[in-house]
Amino acid sequence: MKVLLLPLAVGVAAASPLATMADSFIKRGVPATIHYSQMTLYGGFELAYDLTGDEKYASWYRGQIDALVQDNGTIKNWQYEYYSLDNYRMGNNLLYWYEKTGEEKYKKAASVIRQQINRTPRTATGGFWHRDPNYPNQMWLDGIFMADSFYAKWTKRFDNKNTSAWDDIALQYDNIEAHTRNRTTGLLKHGYDESKVAVWADPVTGAAPLVWDRAVGWYFMSLLEVIPVWPKTHPARKRLINYFTTLAAALKKTQDKSGGWWLIMDEQYVGAKGNYIESSGSAMFTFGFLKGIRLGLLDQKQYLAPAKKGYNLLLNKFIVEKDDGTVDWEGTVEVGSLSSNGSYEYYISVPLAVNDYKGAGPFMYASYEIETL
Ligand SMILES: *[C@@H]1O[C@H](CO)[C@@H](O)[C@H](O)[C@H]1NC(C)=O
Ligand SMILES: *[C@@H]1O[C@H](CO)[C@@H](O)[C@H](O)[C@H]1NC(C)=O
Ligand SMILES: *[C@@H]1O[C@H](CO)[C@@H](O)[C@H](O)[C@H]1NC(C)=O
Ligand SMILES: *[C@@H]1O[C@H](CO)[C@@H](O)[C@H](O)[C@H]1NC(C)=O
Repeated sequence: MKVLLLPLAVGVAAASPLATMADSFIKRGVPATIHYSQMTLYGGFELAYDLTGDEKYASWYRGQIDALVQDNGTIKNWQYEYYSLDNYRMGNNLLYWYEKTGEEKYKKAASVIRQQINRTPRTATGGFWHRDPNYPNQMWLDGIFMADSFYAKWTKRFDNKNTSAWDDIALQYDNIEAHTRNRTTGLLKHGYDESKVAVWADPVTGAAPLVWDRAVGWYFMSLLEVIPVWPKTHPARKRLINYFTTLAAALKKTQDKSGGWWLIMDEQYVGAKGNYIESSGSAMFTFGFLKGIRLGLLDQKQYLAPAKKGYNLLLNKFIVEKDDGTVDWEGTVEVGSLSSNGSYEYYISVPLAVNDYKGAGPFMYASYEIETL
């Protein structure tokens, strides 16, 4: 279905927003690195290919991955003793190519990452450190999307009977929930330090002080990746679904009247000087509502209208049509890191980027859902 009812009924919306965005990135070029930003964008190419069947999306994407995966199944310049969950995100894309082609090299490359998971340092309760050496004993919501979606997909595909793997994956989500979720607001802080020594750590919970939209978005999207592959008989499945639906309810409540979401979502900062409606988080939440409906996790009567409102904002505010037929994606904050002091001043001081893959990718995911409704 085309998005003809939306106000921007020329150009992008009259064509396919998903395909137009994919074409724009092909035209501009994307540096082929193992960074999770690229991997997030490439998820959009999987969907562009699924939607259109046009081989150009698959072949461009495969070229990007083949620049990193060597014929013997090692990953170019892979650091075997650098334990950064961010780098594990690539495992999802490797599995995609293994499923699609059956070529062993993709499976081998994915297994490099799967083995690295086993060696990754953990907190006292078993949570993966976000990065060793930089972030000891810290779990960030971001890391759940980076490591645990892949961990679950790998387990489903190659190790489904390994109950300790499923338990281990569930533990990552349980830890995040126990330390960062506020049960009144339903929102989750950016992360926590189990050793409570980080400058930003709450002395009781270890939690970071603020709710950062993109971290919540990564977490929300990861739940949508693991729930469909989770064994029906494993007890954590119900909990994960509850984590997703209760977060969705909190997001519905915190959606701005414009249809978007604030960079810093804590109530006292809504509308505060320096705060703004941020595009990557807004795209992730819009997508999450739509996919949640498709998977039968969310009630269409409650969530479709907010999702459409969100999507309208994405198209009208953050997509800019260029003279050369490409589109730009605007309004995505470059980064938000707990290497900082975790303050409001820090988060609002980070600049915005144009055509940031971390926002454009989720826009493509949301577009896929809208275009296939
Ligand atoms: C895999 O191939 C690359 C590039 O040809 C080479 O540098 C590397 O040593 C090989 N690794 C193994 C384990 O064979
Ligand atoms: C099962 O999963 C656990 C936890 O990830 C892992 O340590 C173990 O090696 C896995 N077992 C097999 C046979 O792969
Ligand atoms: C949860 O959020 C509410 C509303 O902002 C606040 O009053 C309460 O103190 C928070 N609870 C915790 C444990 O931080
Ligand atoms: C925290 O860092 C920001 C810059 O990132 C700075 O503006 C602010 O003053 C710092 N706050 C404290 C309490 O150190």
